[in-house]
Amino acid sequence: MTSMIGRVTSFVTYRDFRRLLKECSNYPPLAMFNDFLLLSVVFSFQGALLLTALILTLYITFSFFGDVRVSNLEKKAVFITGCDSGFGYELAKKLDAERLRVFAACLTSEGEAKLKTECSSELITLKLDVTKSRDIQCALQAVKSHLPSQGLWAIVNNAGIGYPGPIEWQPVEEMKKTLEVNLWGMVSITKVFLPFLKRTKGRIVNVASASGRLSSPFAAAYCISKFGVEAFSDALRNEMKHFGVTVHIIEPGTFKTGITDAEKNIQYLQRLWENLDGDTKECYGGEFYEQAKAKLRDIRHIFSPNIFKVVDAMDHAVTSMHPKLRYVLGLDHQLIWRTLSFLPSEIQDFFFGLVLPKPKGNPDHDN
Ligand SMILES: NC(=O)c1ccc[n+]([C@@H]2O[C@H](COP(=O)([O-])OP(=O)(O)OC[C@H]3O[C@@H](n4cnc5c(N)ncnc54)[C@H](OP(=O)(O)O)[C@@H]3O)[C@@H](O)[C@H]2O)c1
Repeated sequence: MTSMIGRVTSFVTYRDFRRLLKECSNYPPLAMFNDFLLLSVVFSFQGALLLTALILTLYITFSFFGDVRVSNLEKKAVFITGCDSGFGYELAKKLDAERLRVFAACLTSEGEAKLKTECSSELITLKLDVTKSRDIQCALQAVKSHLPSQGLWAIVNNAGIGYPGPIEWQPVEEMKKTLEVNLWGMVSITKVFLPFLKRTKGRIVNVASASGRLSSPFAAAYCISKFGVEAFSDALRNEMKHFGVTVHIIEPGTFKTGITDAEKNIQYLQRLWENLDGDTKECYGGEFYEQAKAKLRDIRHIFSPNIFKVVDAMDHAVTSMHPKLRYVLGLDHQLIWRTLSFLPSEIQDFFFGLVLPKPKGNPDHDN
């Protein structure tokens, strides 16, 4: 089809140019441009075909060689945060098996111990809370003293937390905590390792979320933090390109990991509910609370168990010769969240109105 359009277009262009050439020869001042025009004609006649062939070749080459990896992987080092569980845990194991030097930062000593039993002796674990500057300095020293000769190739900012609940129920301090980990932790880690990455013209892989594209009710703090991650990563990418450092965003939909664990999230919601004053409880109503808990329980069935899709994308971002700038992962994100994010707010609100429980509303007061 493309080549047919190309042929028709070039035929018309060719005929037009021939007519133009003839007319040009009748005007001496323009005749000298004939050679140049002739070249243009030849180019335009074959141009469409050439262009089509070029696009096809590029497409085939890119699909075929898209997965070619950077050289000397075994001499490259990568630093990953949040390796106790979920994506970080699986990525550390995968990159270790691919023989990269992995610095796996875990929040807990138990996380470190568990990872060590499953990985090679080359993997180095560190205890790191991304919100603590002292931990970050210790991690920096540990990386410095174990860096292979080729330096630090990549960092993966993966650590994250997320708890559900209406804005009115969630204490500001707890909302801030989510931002401290998901956003400011990422910013602090990135800034500390930037000089290393500039030396190797390395990579920064930031784990964002579908929640960084569309803000959903009952997840405000998490969404704010992930919108922040997107903003930070987009700005960083454009600042860093002048130094040869590239920035890649991982944008998963909803997958079954610790962060989406239904029981943990229900317990959190229960604590929020129990701490509410009587008036607020009255406004929302016990039915709303029960429906919210049931929703948390029900939606876990639609969470994807295929967390390897996210881990493979993170791996691709670290090791491929042609990493993408943004990886949109999970059917829910590809079909629903991303699509909704492009639609008008009225449609987004209508969608949430359909699927989420509604509070009882203000009680009638006799004034
Ligand atoms: N699962 C999803 O559906 C989904 C979707 C979109 C984005 N994400 C993002 O993916 C990333 C990884 O999450 P996950 O799904 O793999 O969930 P996860 O299993 O809960 O992993 C999060 C990791 O971060 C660690 N962590 C928590 N607070 C930390 C802190 N202050 N400092 C350092 N590490 C800390 C956790 O340690 P502990 O296990 O010890 O608490 C855990 O290892 C997060 O950024 C999350 O927002 C997940």
